[in-house]
Amino acid sequence: MARISMLRFLLLCLTLTIISCMHLFFNCKETKDEVRNVPLHSQESEAMNNDVFIPNIPIHKNDTHELADDTNNPHKLAVIIPFRERFDELMEFAPWIHIFLTNQGVRHKIVVVNQVDIHRFNRASLINIGFIKSRGECDYMVMHDVDLLPNNPDLKYTFPEKGVHHLASPDIHPIYHYAKYVGGVLMLKMSDFALCKGMSNIFWGWGREDDEFFMRMKENNLQLLRPTGITTGYNTFKHIHDKVKRPRDYKRYGSQKQVQFKRDTETGFDTVQYKLASQKDITIDGAPVTVYNVELLCDIIKTPWCDHDKPK
Ligand code: UDP
Ligand code: BGC
Repeated sequence: MARISMLRFLLLCLTLTIISCMHLFFNCKETKDEVRNVPLHSQESEAMNNDVFIPNIPIHKNDTHELADDTNNPHKLAVIIPFRERFDELMEFAPWIHIFLTNQGVRHKIVVVNQVDIHRFNRASLINIGFIKSRGECDYMVMHDVDLLPNNPDLKYTFPEKGVHHLASPDIHPIYHYAKYVGGVLMLKMSDFALCKGMSNIFWGWGREDDEFFMRMKENNLQLLRPTGITTGYNTFKHIHDKVKRPRDYKRYGSQKQVQFKRDTETGFDTVQYKLASQKDITIDGAPVTVYNVELLCDIIKTPWCDHDKPK
């Protein structure tokens, strides 16, 4: 009797052991299969996400390209970037501004006008070309330095109904604070830019072209508006200008010293001389960007300062 009970007990133990082993086997298999089933690309994209640049601005849940294409918004903004050899800055600027504008429901086109000739940099002529290239598609524009990244969602890039909006106003620009300053980031209707005949083409090298445009706006009685209620002061824009790596071309040659302070009544978007070397539609971290590679032509008689003086 005792033997039979013992045998039954052993049988029971054996059955329990087999059940436990089977349970363990199937559980482990499930876990293994789960790991194996993770598609490789999603593991990769997670790893890559750690490297993806994310702007310091709230990204709304509904942040998609749909908003940028919102057909309820009748307006479209051309973000015109005068550009030469600022690759690192553009890599940061393009996705940043694309997300920033998308969050605001601002339909936009990012236009880089890249100067590829051998002359000195001419910011105003590049902006004129940006205007010519985008006026058929956009009804307002913002001339935007590539090194100023808007860092406060209260800064609005919506249609400037009532006048010209100087977004990088002297109150909030990281380094420039004089009252008549209109550089950095200036937004206006295409029709207002055309009214001023665009910008002067005689400014080669750094500076003064924006001050001359201030005079054009004044002459045409355009109202200059500046952002109000911004509480982030000089941190409203992230400024990514390294002045050692990107020195400014302050040189002045011959009559440039005098001419730079005068109102230029002759040149504008309708007189800018250039050759379009090529056009490229590219995407930078999800941001669509149109690049115009342009060769500016210089009238050496009128503006001999378009090249640096050769050493004698
Ligand atoms: N810029 C450029 N390459 C140059 C010089 C200027 O791309 O060699 C463009 C760029 O968009 C830059 C803007 O022109 O942000 C204004 O130039 P910069 O930043 O040197 O002048 P700042 O406004 O800081 O005095
Ligand atoms: C120049 C402007 C420039 C500003 C910045 C002025 O002297 O003429 O072009 O944007 O300085 O401070």
